[in-house]
Amino acid sequence: MSDSGNQGSEQSAAERVRVGEVSALPEGSQTEVQVGGLSVVVVCDGGQYYALRNKCSHQDFPLLGGDVSMGRITCSKHGAKFELGSGKARTLPAVKPVAVYRTLLEEGAVWVESL
Ligand code: FES
Repeated sequence: MSDSGNQGSEQSAAERVRVGEVSALPEGSQTEVQVGGLSVVVVCDGGQYYALRNKCSHQDFPLLGGDVSMGRITCSKHGAKFELGSGKARTLPAVKPVAVYRTLLEEGAVWVESL
């Protein structure tokens, strides 16, 4: 009955990262932050902040800088669109979603938290 386990190696606490002051993240802005060692793009669209994994699910290409319209961000490599809120792929060639993160407003700043 030996337990060679790795108990305690998995962190269940969500990681929270400060993106910046709300005033520095205006409508239409896109900002890259690192959450848990992964690149995340934070988008301000329609007065809301969204955070998605900064990596297209079609190929390894950053979403940062992609065109944002109608609540979707477009991968500038081949044009796949992802819903900002859910990360779901809405147009080919991507079919798989990208991970999304929770965004919070606190003390005049925007924060991102892993789900
Ligand atoms: S890498 Fe994003 S659509 Fe192909």
